[in-house]
Amino acid sequence: MTSLAPLRAPEPSGTRRPTARRYLMCRPEHFDVYYAINPWMDATAPVDRALALAQWETLRATFESHGHRVDVIAPEPGLPDMVFAANGGLALGDRALSARFANPERAAEGPAYHRWLSGQPFAKVHAATEINEGEGDFAVVGPRILAGSGFRTSHAAHHEAATFFNRPVVTLDLVDPRFYHLDTALMPLGDTIAFYPPAFTRESVTLLSALYPDALIATEDDANVLGLNGVCDGYHVFLTDKAVTLPDQLRERGYLPVPIDLSELLKSGGSVKCCTMELHPAR
Ligand code: ARG
Repeated sequence: MTSLAPLRAPEPSGTRRPTARRYLMCRPEHFDVYYAINPWMDATAPVDRALALAQWETLRATFESHGHRVDVIAPEPGLPDMVFAANGGLALGDRALSARFANPERAAEGPAYHRWLSGQPFAKVHAATEINEGEGDFAVVGPRILAGSGFRTSHAAHHEAATFFNRPVVTLDLVDPRFYHLDTALMPLGDTIAFYPPAFTRESVTLLSALYPDALIATEDDANVLGLNGVCDGYHVFLTDKAVTLPDQLRERGYLPVPIDLSELLKSGGSVKCCTMELHPAR
C-alpha cells in the first residue's frame, strides 16, 4: 500500500516561530542632531528629517505587516531624541518603570514617557529615582533582565529595577563609548542573545558566556553599523540593512533577518531597537 502525501502546505523547516508583539514608537517629527551626547553624533552635520520620517514609517509598516501592534507616543518639540522610544522605560507584565535620563538634553523625555505609560492599563507605573535609560540598557531575556551600565544607566538603577519587577537583574559593564547603551552591543534572541564582546569588561564577557554558552558572537563590522540594535519576535530579526555577517549568522540559527534602512537615525547613534520600546507580556 502506498501512502499519500498530506494535502497541506509544507511546514517551515525550522522550529522558530514568531509571536505577536506590542511595540511603542515615536515619529521623528522633531528629529535633529544639534547636540552630541555620544560619539555617533556630529552636531555640525546636516540631518534630512524627511528621510528620517520615511525610514521610520517603513520600520513601523514592517512591524505591522509582520503581525505586530505598534502604539505611538506624541513627539514633543525640543526633544530631538524622543524618536528613540526604547529609552523611555521598561514595560514588563503589569508594571512599567519610566526612564530618568543621564543627560539634561533628554531629561524631559522621562516625564513624557511616564505620562504615556501612566495612561495604559498597568497595575503600577513607577517614575525612577535612579538614572536609567529604559530598554537602551535593560534587556528582557527569558526570566531575567540584563542591565547595562558604564555610560548612562547606573548600578543603583539595576537594583531599583530588580526590586520593582521582582526579577533577577544581571549587571553588565560597558567600556566602549561607541557602544554606550546595552542595546548597541547586545541583542536578545528569545532565550539567548547575540553580543559583541569587546564592548564589555572581561568580567561581563565571562558572565555572558556562562549564562549563554550558545550566544551568537557578532563581528566588529556588524557592531560598527549597530547591527546588534535589532528586534527579534522569536523568528524575524528586524535589523539594519548595513549588517554584514550577522544576517547569515542569524539564518544559520533558524532566524529570518528583515533588513531595514535607518541611515538618518544612525546619525544620532540609533537604529531599529532604539526606535522601539517593547511592551513585554509577563511570562
Ligand atoms: N542620540 C541618542 C542618545 O545618545 C541615541 C539613543 C539611542 N537609543 C538607544 N536605545 N541606544 O541618547
